[in-house]
Amino acid sequence: MKRTLYILLAVLLLAVLVLLIARPRWYLNLTKRVEISPETGAALVEKYECRKCHIVGGQGALYAPNLDKSITYLTNEALTTWLADPRAMRPNTPMPNFHLSDSEIQAILLYLKANP
Ligand code: HEC
Repeated sequence: MKRTLYILLAVLLLAVLVLLIARPRWYLNLTKRVEISPETGAALVEKYECRKCHIVGGQGALYAPNLDKSITYLTNEALTTWLADPRAMRPNTPMPNFHLSDSEIQAILLYLKANP
């Protein structure tokens, strides 16, 4: 039955599209799993170019809060939410959502707290 096959393919394609666009947390955790270490965190801070806006380890830009300071006054929970879903912290924040996985977030926080 050719028609059934086409319908199946269309449904499959739609499912893939939804995953790629919505990127639910379980999907990010599946596809962007990293080793949780300060070294990974350092590489991710480079990859996502946090220093284009923030200061990290005394280096970077002043467009956004100095993260060397932020880690001293924000709770772990607040830091995690800022990285997982910035709009949950402030609805029209300029901080981009990088669609980070849980392990990426933990690695970045380890690096920030290691006081580079
Ligand atoms: C395009 C610029 C930009 C980039 C790139 C960026 N941020 Fe931000 N970020 C901001 C801005 C602006 C704020 C302040 C948002 C607000 O108050 O609404 C912010 C807020 C934050 C906060 C909360 C700070 C506080 O003291 O309230 C954290 C934590 C943070 N960013 C981490 C990161 C990390 C880690 C990266 C890299 C993965 C990153 N940001 C990349 C612009 C950026």
